[in-house]
Amino acid sequence: MVVGWAVASAQPRVQQTVDWTAVSPEFEGATYVNDPATCQTCHEEVMETYAHTTHARAFDLASDPAGQCESCHGPRSKHIEDPTDVLAFATLPARTQSAVCLQCHEGGSRMGFKAGAHQSNDVSCASCHQVMEQRSDSALLITASTTETCYTCHADVRGDLNKMSHHPVREGKMDCASCHNTHGATPGLLVKATLNDTCYTCHADKRGPFLWEHAPVRESCANCHTPHGSNHRTLLTSKDPFQCLTCHSYGGHINLPRYNRVSNPYGQGCSNCHITPHGSNHPSGAKLTR
Ligand code: HEC
Ligand code: HEC
Ligand code: HEC
Ligand code: HEC
Ligand code: HEC
Ligand code: HEC
Ligand code: HEC
Ligand code: HEC
Ligand code: HEC
Ligand code: HEC
Repeated sequence: MVVGWAVASAQPRVQQTVDWTAVSPEFEGATYVNDPATCQTCHEEVMETYAHTTHARAFDLASDPAGQCESCHGPRSKHIEDPTDVLAFATLPARTQSAVCLQCHEGGSRMGFKAGAHQSNDVSCASCHQVMEQRSDSALLITASTTETCYTCHADVRGDLNKMSHHPVREGKMDCASCHNTHGATPGLLVKATLNDTCYTCHADKRGPFLWEHAPVRESCANCHTPHGSNHRTLLTSKDPFQCLTCHSYGGHINLPRYNRVSNPYGQGCSNCHITPHGSNHPSGAKLTR
């Protein structure tokens, strides 16, 4: 027996911003039942599981039938008369599924959802969220964690995060949401408007301004770093000297060829001497050597 279902209020307050007839002609002529107890007579098992979810708790606390079954499942009077009159959520187009959720969740991080890469590729709220059952501690995800939820579709990123140098996601110090707003519409679905601003949220020391700037750093951290993982040290996109040589064909010391040898006597890379690749505040740091 599920306890605590709110008694139907005399004033039905189901939000009706979803045009259910447009969702499916099946809803033509159907009205809201607004009484979860009626649904319970046939769906006890499903409701038992649902009762432990954030929605069930939130709606119950508010004693608000508007937030109950029919907010997401549409007016069900016809279904009650004839239970074979069904309309499975999963068969609705992705955008329609999301429109149902967005009637209550349009704000906050989801302001850009409709313009974002996920919606444009028919990934719906229900692709990442399971609302009928609490599987994650928070956010009603389809798996126990954010990272595992993302890996259900982005398995290649797991491979990157297993490389020698990687952001500490698999160590549990951060997750995909540390850098990505999956509900957003920024390029790369990043938490900030630009890639650099995203990096600065944790690596503030790289923001500058520096007395001596290194142009490619201002332009994009991705000129030298890959975000998820690399088999080169410090998330570099290629082996140290080659990294610099992609732009500095003569290494800058045409008259000092020994500096430019990839395995020079001074070590293995340019950053042995150019120790401030991100910019320098030292009065004589113009060549990024201090
Ligand atoms: C927040 C939105 C939301 C609310 C509230 C909600 N549901 Fe659901 N329900 C869904 C979604 C989304 C699915 C589809 C899940 C899937 O495809 O995995 C679903 C699936 C179902 C199913 C099919 C389950 C199955 O295994 O095939 C039933 C039955 C159901 N809901 C009944 C209810 C009842 C009864 C209530 C009220 C107690 C309710 N739902 C409240 C969103 C909701
Ligand atoms: C008289 C029994 C009965 C009642 C009352 C009932 N249902 Fe159902 N419902 C069924 C049957 C039978 C199915 C068919 C599939 C299944 O077994 O899950 C079903 C399927 C569903 C589904 C999944 C398929 C679909 O159409 O989306 C949802 C959601 C659902 N019911 C919601 C509700 C809600 C909400 C209420 C209360 C307003 C309700 N039901 C009341 C018997 C009932
Ligand atoms: C009728 C309004 C309403 C609808 C429709 C609705 N929600 Fe919610 N949702 C709420 C409320 C209220 C809460 C709890 C309070 C809060 O966190 O804002 C909530 C919370 C959530 C949370 C956070 C849960 C947590 O534990 O952190 C997620 C995720 C969520 N909803 C997803 C969905 C999805 C996906 C759908 C569509 C299948 C949906 N919601 C439909 C009102 C709604
Ligand atoms: C690509 C996967 C994905 C999609 C698609 C998605 N979400 Fe989320 N959502 C998440 C993850 C992951 C979190 C947890 C984020 C975190 O840990 O900060 C979350 C958190 C939430 C929360 C709770 C935190 C908050 O921002 O209020 C709500 C509510 C929510 N999602 C609603 C929705 C709705 C509504 C949709 C569809 C319009 C949707 N989500 C689509 C992955 C997704
Ligand atoms: C249901 C499958 C699915 C899930 C789950 C999913 N995604 Fe996606 N994601 C896609 C698809 C499809 C695209 C668009 C095609 C592509 O770029 O691969 C995409 C694109 C992206 C992009 C690239 C956006 C761009 O502008 O190029 C990022 C970043 C992303 N997803 C992050 C995430 C994160 C983080 C999660 C977990 C919270 C997640 N995704 C969960 C399917 C999914
Ligand atoms: C340290 C920050 C950071 C973390 C943590 C992170 N990403 Fe990314 N991700 C980025 C950046 C930066 C890009 C590049 C965006 C661009 O080029 O616009 C990116 C690109 C992507 C892309 C599109 C390109 C590609 O490589 O496929 C996907 C998909 C993606 N990330 C998924 C994920 C998933 C899934 C996780 C968690 C397992 C994750 N990211 C963790 C920063 C991060
Ligand atoms: C949410 C915080 C966060 C964000 C955002 C972030 N990082 Fe990191 N970054 C870390 C942490 C934590 C480490 C590991 C530090 C350690 O192990 O001492 C790290 C390490 C690194 C390293 C050194 C890796 C190594 O193997 O030594 C580089 C390079 C780096 N980040 C670049 C970036 C770039 C580029 C971005 C933007 C795309 C970025 N980070 C965004 C938290 C973040
Ligand atoms: C011109 C290439 C280049 C660009 C662009 C670049 N980096 Fe680096 N970065 C390096 C090199 C080389 C190292 C290794 C330095 C060393 O070992 O002394 C490094 C190391 C790091 C480290 C780890 C060591 C430390 O200094 O904390 C972090 C974090 C980092 N970079 C963040 C960033 C961020 C954030 C950006 C963008 C604002 C960025 N990098 C842009 C070349 C670059
Ligand atoms: C994406 C291209 C790019 C990469 C990669 C790159 N640089 Fe640069 N670097 C530049 C540009 C552009 C300037 C500014 C040149 C100017 O002002 O004439 C610059 C300037 C410099 C300067 C100062 C030159 C001067 O004339 O004052 C030094 C030193 C330098 N880079 C070293 C390095 C080192 C070391 C690396 C590898 C860690 C590296 N660069 C990687 C593009 C790059
Ligand atoms: C042994 C130390 C050392 C190594 C190794 C080294 N540099 Fe330098 N580099 C310097 C010094 C010192 C200067 C300043 C020389 C000057 O002003 O004539 C300099 C100057 C430069 C300049 C600016 C030249 C200009 O016209 O003002 C660039 C660009 C540069 N180095 C790139 C590189 C690259 C790329 C590598 C790796 C292939 C590298 N350096 C390896 C010490 C080194």
